Amino acid sequence: MEGASNQERVSTQAIPTAAAPALFSGAGRLTDSHGRAITDLRVSVTDRCNYRCVYCRTGTDGAQYSELPLADYLRIIRVFVSLGIEKVRLTGGEPLLRRDLTSLIREVAQLRTSYAADSSPFDGAGGDSRHSARGGSSNLDIAVTTNGHLLAAQAQSLRDAGLSRVTVSMDAVDPEVFARITRVPGSYDRVLAGVRAAQAAGLGPVKVNCVLLRGFNDDQIVAFVHFARTEGVILRFIEFMPLEEDRIWSPDTVIGYDELKARLNAVRPLVPLPGNAPGETAQRFTFDDGIGEIGIIAPVSRAFCGACSRVRLTSDGKIRTCLFSQTDHDLYSVLHRGGSDDDLAAYIRNVIAQKEARHHIGEPGFLKPSRSMVHIGG
Ligand code: 5AD
Ligand code: SF4
Repeated sequence: MEGASNQERVSTQAIPTAAAPALFSGAGRLTDSHGRAITDLRVSVTDRCNYRCVYCRTGTDGAQYSELPLADYLRIIRVFVSLGIEKVRLTGGEPLLRRDLTSLIREVAQLRTSYAADSSPFDGAGGDSRHSARGGSSNLDIAVTTNGHLLAAQAQSLRDAGLSRVTVSMDAVDPEVFARITRVPGSYDRVLAGVRAAQAAGLGPVKVNCVLLRGFNDDQIVAFVHFARTEGVILRFIEFMPLEEDRIWSPDTVIGYDELKARLNAVRPLVPLPGNAPGETAQRFTFDDGIGEIGIIAPVSRAFCGACSRVRLTSDGKIRTCLFSQTDHDLYSVLHRGGSDDDLAAYIRNVIAQKEARHHIGEPGFLKPSRSMVHIGG
């Protein structure tokens, strides 16, 4: 598999047992200068991917940015958690390519956030403590976003390590269309097996993310609805954003909120579901018979920046305050220079204060972000 030797090189360091999360004195929980509490950390643990989805990557193999030893991600996550992060999502690239991911999850599952009540509703998670980490004493919500290719073999150990839930990216339910998108033959069967294994391992309800592109996979909408209803997964359609390596995004490629809702309604009448939490990105629906859950995530046509609770760490240890940021903030260099946890916390607070108010997709003068999605982490 692509980059296997690279993986060897970067992931052999043992992960020390997590110390109890230190509490940093002073400034209270992490809040940006627009008054938004930052509670949701997304950590990319590799920017390698074993798929080359046509709307994401150019087709050229390999990582562009380095990976940190898992122990460094753990230390950074611990500091973030001490500042009020309640939800940790591990992403990539493809995170399951990191062989010791379960050890990282096991350690993260020992952390506790001292800001959230144990029953804190987590964004999109169903809003109950079902979704807090299952392995340790954690009250964190720990999730993984994966393309599902390696999930069947790993689902049970991920769950045993304390993973709360998993999100699988699937952009078609027709095997041929699926393989055309991922550019990997046989990928659909692998991913379907991964979804089912995750459901069986107790990581359900699995969320399935589908990015719709007009004229490309929007003919899959009806079949996706049937898929969600029969497999018992939560389906979420995400509007395509200009985050691809190539330049294929245009406003016409986006299936906007109103159009998608109308097209879903034509399959079966939709019934809105109440929101789970203020920072929730999905508008949730079921159908008139109560079977199935569909979310529409519309960052372009219905931007939710005003309620954004997210911060991202790239695989090489840079903080990104927005998917569309023009700069990264080099947290890793603070760690690498021998900075203390207090130094890391102070750096994080300072960076969070600079979080952008919103994105400017579709506006004149919009600048593409300095990194594409595969190198940021969903
Ligand atoms: N726009 C919207 N979503 C995207 N993803 C990848 N690229 C884009 C894009 N340009 C999705 C993936 C995955 C998640 C990590 O982000 O399909 O579900
Ligand atoms: Fe890989 Fe996800 Fe990009 Fe597809 S969308 S190439 S699975 S990072």
